[in-house]
Amino acid sequence: MNELQEHHITFFKKLVGSDRFSTGSSHRELHVRDISAHHGSLPAGVIFPTTTEEVSRILAFCYDNDIPVTPWGAGTSTEGNPVPVCGGLVVDLTMMNRIIAIRPQDLQADVEPGVLRKELNRQAGQFGLFFPPDPGADATIGGMIANNASGVQTVKYGATKDNVLRLVVVLPNGEVIHTGCKAPKSSSGYDLTRLFIGSEGTLGIVTEITVKLSGIPAIRMAATIPFPDLASASQAVAVLIGSGLGPAALELLPPELIALMNREKGLGLEEVPTLFCEFHGSSDPVIEETATLARELCEECGAVGFRHASDEAGRTALWRARHEAWETIHRAHPGLETLIVDAAVPISAYPDMVVFAQHAVDQAGVIGYVFGHAGDGNLHVVLVGDIRDGAAWGRLETVNHSIVEEAIRKGGTCTGEHGVGIGKRKFMPLEHGGSYEWMRRIKTLFDPKGLMNPGKIF
Ligand code: LAC
Ligand code: ZN
Repeated sequence: MNELQEHHITFFKKLVGSDRFSTGSSHRELHVRDISAHHGSLPAGVIFPTTTEEVSRILAFCYDNDIPVTPWGAGTSTEGNPVPVCGGLVVDLTMMNRIIAIRPQDLQADVEPGVLRKELNRQAGQFGLFFPPDPGADATIGGMIANNASGVQTVKYGATKDNVLRLVVVLPNGEVIHTGCKAPKSSSGYDLTRLFIGSEGTLGIVTEITVKLSGIPAIRMAATIPFPDLASASQAVAVLIGSGLGPAALELLPPELIALMNREKGLGLEEVPTLFCEFHGSSDPVIEETATLARELCEECGAVGFRHASDEAGRTALWRARHEAWETIHRAHPGLETLIVDAAVPISAYPDMVVFAQHAVDQAGVIGYVFGHAGDGNLHVVLVGDIRDGAAWGRLETVNHSIVEEAIRKGGTCTGEHGVGIGKRKFMPLEHGGSYEWMRRIKTLFDPKGLMNPGKIF
């Protein structure tokens, strides 16, 4: 649906006013791409609700009038997850950005979906608390829920789904429900909260969230650990995870990416396969002891060094460089586009998976950076190429396919954290078999007309 009808426009303008509804081309064009190479189709209009009641009335109207709806957060997704593919209405939730309450005694906060992750952490930080899921990008909390986002600290604190207790959701027909509760635990019936987390806006729109907060650790120590090759670095990952030392981050970086980071950020790291690691603890002696044990374990796996970055400046610089890996790769290849692998496997399969991925990249003769959230068994390969060159782009697709298929063979998944969006739909039958059909039935139950974020997951 590329154009709204006059009576649709009249309804939306009356509901939210002309300043929060637009059919202008600049608004529409700002809502047709996330940070990936996936292109959508221009939405017919963009609306900016500010309350659950408005979202409910918008969805009820769209349902009655067969208007496709695509929810939008910060647009930082990597698989085209919020990109409209059938036109229709984009519901931009960034104006629903109130932090309703921070309740430090409960270690919880109630927020609206448009709250940015960094703003929540800034405000929670005043109480010595933080919201741990960290995808790097300054995503909205609603977007993080849609994708079940995670990132560098997931190995210790879990993904978004592990840090959310309760949701208010507007269903496609406009009905408003809540899921879960504010108690730290519950065994009460089906877990609808976790059904909506990761559903990518295909089942409804989340308009209020109760998140779990964690205490900011007293001491944080980051370390960089160089290895002679990717295989020994990835073998150390399983050893560190199995050691019970409980790293708060455990990232694998390849020499090619370290080289880009050195060039851009002046990190001064050896350009060899390296683990970026972090430990959280209550005192310096505890952290020192943990670091000593970690160093010994890594040396047994072949590590050729162990550099602390315990001062805040060094630590921040290291993680900023890691968080900007995606942007750094893009800046190094101007004019080219990327395709990102996000497979995840059991920890024991990680070393073989890393070697397999590097081999696939080398064999195909393409540009590809093999890295990842190693502590979660999560492997990224950022494949770089010219999307206008069909044959070259096809080679990237083939590498992507072979790595994902291998991950699924090893008992893993096509996406550890980026979600299915547009790019991973093709892997769903292989990964899920018969349960994919049950997912489709759930989708149909909530959204019989197929209007909510159409073309995603299915
Ligand atoms: C990262 C994003 C791309 O890990 O998930 O850098
Ligand atoms: Zn990642």
